[in-house]
Amino acid sequence: MPSLKTRERLSEVRYEIRGELARRARELEAQGRTLIKLNIGNPGAFGFRAPEHLQRAIADHIHDTDPYTHQQGLPAAREAIAAFHRARGAPSVTPERVFVGNGVSELIDISLRALLNPGDEVLLPSPDYPLWSAATILNDGRPVYYRCHATQGFLPDPDEIEALVSSRTRAIVLINPNNPTGAVYPRALLERIVAIAAKHRLLLMVDEIYDGVLYDEARFEPLAPLAGDLPCVSFGGLSKVHRACGWRVGWAVLSGDPIASGDYHHAMDLLGALRLCANVPGQFAIEAALHGADTIGALCRADGRLYEARRAVIESCAASEHLTLHAPEGALYAFPGVRGAAAEGFDDHAFALELMETEDVLVVPGSSFNVPYRNHFRVTLLPQPDQLREVFRRIDRVLARRAEAAGKVVPFPQVPLSAHG
Ligand SMILES: Cc1ncc(COP(=O)(O)O)c(C=O)c1O
Repeated sequence: MPSLKTRERLSEVRYEIRGELARRARELEAQGRTLIKLNIGNPGAFGFRAPEHLQRAIADHIHDTDPYTHQQGLPAAREAIAAFHRARGAPSVTPERVFVGNGVSELIDISLRALLNPGDEVLLPSPDYPLWSAATILNDGRPVYYRCHATQGFLPDPDEIEALVSSRTRAIVLINPNNPTGAVYPRALLERIVAIAAKHRLLLMVDEIYDGVLYDEARFEPLAPLAGDLPCVSFGGLSKVHRACGWRVGWAVLSGDPIASGDYHHAMDLLGALRLCANVPGQFAIEAALHGADTIGALCRADGRLYEARRAVIESCAASEHLTLHAPEGALYAFPGVRGAAAEGFDDHAFALELMETEDVLVVPGSSFNVPYRNHFRVTLLPQPDQLREVFRRIDRVLARRAEAAGKVVPFPQVPLSAHG
C-alpha cells in the first residue's frame, strides 16, 4: 500500500529542541543512562514551581473552569493584561484587543496566519526561536533573516534590516529578551526599528515572553509604547517569568491605531474562534501574575538561583580555552561559540551527539536556530549552578579531545540536519 504523504513544506521546518537528539536521549535513558538535558527551557523540569499565589488563584476558581470562555479569553484576564500594558505606556490597549492563547506558541501561529498570503515575507532574527520560522513557513510565508551576530552583542543592525525590506515584506519580528542569545535590546535600537516599520508600513511583532528575566543592569523596554500609533502585536505569557509552562497560558496584545490595523483584529478573532478558546484553568492565574507580588526578580539578582546559574556558565566559558560567550543579559539561555583548534571542521550537530553519547549531556546545536554557521550551541540556565559547572567540565573534555585531534584526524563527520521533529 502506498504510504501517506505529508505536507511538503514540513521538509523546510525544523524544531531540533525536541528533535532527533532528544529522541536519541530518550533511547539512552531507556537503556538506563542518566542524562543532563539542557535542551528545553522548562522551569518545572528543574525543580522550579509556579508561585503559590498563582496556584491558589486557579484552585479558588476550579469550579468555574468547565465552560468554554470567549474566544479571546476570560474578560477579567484580558482586563488584567490590558491594564498591565497601559501601565507600561501603551494607552491604546483595551481588553477587546487582547487575545489569550494556549501559550505564546499558539498565538505566534494564529497571528502569522491572520497576516500572511503566499509568498509574503517576514523579517526574522538569526538566530531565532525556531517556532517563528516554522510558523512563517507553514502559513505560506517566507522567512528573511536579519543577523544578530555575537561580535555585535547579538544585536541587529537596523540598516541591514531596512536593506532586507522588499515589496513582499509584511512584518518585523523581534524577540526581546532574546532566546537563544540572551540579548536585551536597547531603547535606541528599538526606536530605529519602529521607524523602519513606520516607513515601510510593516506590522511589528514582538515576542516578550522573557520580559521579567533580566540580569545585572539590563533594562527591558516594551516595544508597544515606542510604536505608538503603529500596529504592534506584543506577546507574553506565564511559561517563563512565572514558571508555569504546563499551564499553557500566553497572550497577544494588539496596540496602535485601530484604523491602521484594519481587519487584522477581526482575522485574529476569527482564527481564535475556530479553536474555541484557550485552556481555561490557567487563565485564572493571569491577574495574580500581572498584578500580584513579583517573584522572578529575586531569582535574577545576585545570589538568586538563575543569577548564580548564569554566573557558573559565564565563568566556565571564560575559563575554557575552547569557548567564547557573549554573556546573556536576559532570558533563560546561553549561546556559547567554539573557537581555536577545537573549532576546526566543527559541526555543532555531531558535537552535540558526541557530547551526549560520551558525556551524558544534551545541548541544542546552534544551527537549530536558523544561523548559517555551525560552531555554537545553546544551554538553558535552569539547572543548579554546580550542575552547570559539571556540564561545562564535560563539554571541555569533548572539545579538548577535538582540539588535540585537530590536524591529525579528519574533522567531525558532517551529519545531515534532520528535516523536522
Ligand atoms: C522566545 C519564545 N517564544 C515563545 C515560546 C513559547 O512559549 P509558550 O510556552 O508560551 O508557548 C518560547 C518557549 O520557549 C520562547 O522561548
